[in-house]
Amino acid sequence: MRVILLGAPGSGKGTVAEALRSACGYPKISTGDLLREAVREKSALGLVAASQMGKGALVDDATVLALLNERLARDDCRRGCVLDGFPRNLAQAECLDTIGNSGPEIVFDLVVSVDVVLERLANRRTCPRCEAIYHLVAKPPKTPGVCDVCGTALVQRNDDKPEVIRERLKTHAAKTEPLVARYAARGAVHAIDADGPAETVVREVRRIVDAVLGRPDGAGK
Ligand code: AP5
Repeated sequence: MRVILLGAPGSGKGTVAEALRSACGYPKISTGDLLREAVREKSALGLVAASQMGKGALVDDATVLALLNERLARDDCRRGCVLDGFPRNLAQAECLDTIGNSGPEIVFDLVVSVDVVLERLANRRTCPRCEAIYHLVAKPPKTPGVCDVCGTALVQRNDDKPEVIRERLKTHAAKTEPLVARYAARGAVHAIDADGPAETVVREVRRIVDAVLGRPDGAGK
């Protein structure tokens, strides 16, 4: 099975991907996380990526595909995976079509309003080590400023500044949103109202995954 999560910055792709990973065991593959790891390692690829990410633009396809192909080749992806933030444009979607997937493809379009995005990203804190995601109000860490999972000090992402968020929203509208129609033409898209609480969004996503896989509700746990 392959789950593809489409949606604007802050729509909850990472949150949903983590919930599916923990409930169903499918690895969460976030191209944003892979890129941030490369940036932290200061690899040649990471240095190229950092400048694009800091502007709210997409990183070039060759860089992203190199990271993604390496990740998809690992054993844990054999049964399927949840793609968070990939594909991001038509070229990436076409490339994904050439990467084998014998099971169903389920695409979620997480639909969110701009006001909600701005509030969520202002309050988001992430763990730079394990990429766990928090929200200062809706999902605070148990100890303020410290990751519940690995104890690392939480940070605010560099691209969560208002001016960069505006650019990320424009990039999403121009490059990624058109993919919804592409996948809808295959009958693969499920639009989800992602303005509501995370529990409600995750419950609806899991209900659809279970229905597509022909499992009784909650059997994926
Ligand atoms: P990426 O890391 O993918 O960022 P993004 O798409 O902008 O999405 P975000 O991670 O900001 O948000 P999200 O939808 O995952 O929301 P989250 O769950 O964290 O990409 C970053 C950059 O990398 C891009 O700009 C680009 O430069 C580059 N890049 C990445 N992939 C690429 C690709 N394929 N090609 C080229 N370049 C690429 O939730 C946000 C906050 O809200 C959190 O605090 C969370 O706790 C909270 N929250 C989530 N859901 C809810 C809810 N339902 N109710 C209340 N709070 C919620």
